Amino acid sequence: MKITEVLLAEHLVFHSMFDQIEAKVSKFGTLAEVKGMAALVEAVLKAHSDTEDELFLGPLEHCFEQIGQRDSFLEEHQEMNESLLLVQKATRVKQAQRLLLIAVTHSRRHFEREERIVFPLAERVLKSATLTELGQNWMHQRASAAV
Ligand SMILES: [Fe+2]
Ligand SMILES: [Fe+2]
Repeated sequence: MKITEVLLAEHLVFHSMFDQIEAKVSKFGTLAEVKGMAALVEAVLKAHSDTEDELFLGPLEHCFEQIGQRDSFLEEHQEMNESLLLVQKATRVKQAQRLLLIAVTHSRRHFEREERIVFPLAERVLKSATLTELGQNWMHQRASAAV
């Protein structure tokens, strides 16, 4: 599997997780529930972003620099993470719900940008064999992380 296909497949899982959160967050009755959901999303999202940072940015660095996107790409990962961590600071349920929805919207925007700009760029610039090799690296990393 190419790394772009792997990452896109992960995006689809996140999009449906975000759909669920948007539909159900107002029914979460306690701060702990909202914070628990934010912590879960944060952990899973971090694994995804780390994969992109490690496997993807290296081979594409020169292209990102050319289109002036390198820093904003890395910053967006940090911002997504920070917006989820902000939920943990909430002291009222409504505030936590609102912050979680903001974080979800933030993440969706980033994902859409990757789907529109970054993944097609990678498909264009990198050889098919390289994309497959990066996909295999991802598989090995995930397998060793699971042990
Ligand atoms: Fe990303
Ligand atoms: Fe992504």
